[in-house]
Amino acid sequence: MKFFVDTADLAEIRDLAATGLLDGVTTNPSLIAKSGRNMLDVIAEICDVVPGPVSAEVTATDVETMLAEAEVLSSVASNVAIKVPLTPNGLKTCKTLRDRDILVNVTLCFSAAQAVLAAKAGASFISPFVGRLDDIGLRGLDLIEEIVDIYNQYDNFETEVLVASIRGPAHVIDSARVGAHVATVPPNVLRQLYQHPLTEKGLDAFLKDWESTGQSILEQANQRKDAAE
Ligand code: E4P
Repeated sequence: MKFFVDTADLAEIRDLAATGLLDGVTTNPSLIAKSGRNMLDVIAEICDVVPGPVSAEVTATDVETMLAEAEVLSSVASNVAIKVPLTPNGLKTCKTLRDRDILVNVTLCFSAAQAVLAAKAGASFISPFVGRLDDIGLRGLDLIEEIVDIYNQYDNFETEVLVASIRGPAHVIDSARVGAHVATVPPNVLRQLYQHPLTEKGLDAFLKDWESTGQSILEQANQRKDAAE
């Protein structure tokens, strides 16, 4: 499973990229607004830090302007994936961009029917929003399972399921269990994935016992090296 981080905060992206576990980044107009920065500058800097796909979303709703915006965004870096909304015009734009071999992430997906349309339009990624479905009393994960199952029926569907609107580690794990290809995760949730109280407790105990021995692995290595010389 690939991990993307869902943010336009460069400091967070740099920090998480240093873990070596980050495969890409997703942004949206709200996240760009939150960053308070110029969109093209932010996208260019993110693309410098993360070599994987970096989703940058068009803000027009008509095909002609979406394509013009996509051209500008694509020119920023070769790893930009153009994000388009799941509307008839978004899917027309998707098809044209895919014919030009540009990566496309179709966003704001809330049904399996929409996901089928996106795959037919050749989307590189489909972004179903699990958290926002949970928010209205539905089970977002059911949609992920449904889309993965449908896509698996067709060899010619190459669209990757990119689980979006993730609210906690359970969304990531449940998505992995049903075979979603990518999870785009807010920075705090990505950090939560590391945590388990028994890991911290176990490490404290190991380190305490080790300290009581007075030993040092590196000192012992140096002693062995000195003895061999
Ligand atoms: C996806 O790419 C979106 O940026 C994102 O996951 C939306 O999540 P939200 O529902 O937390 O805003």
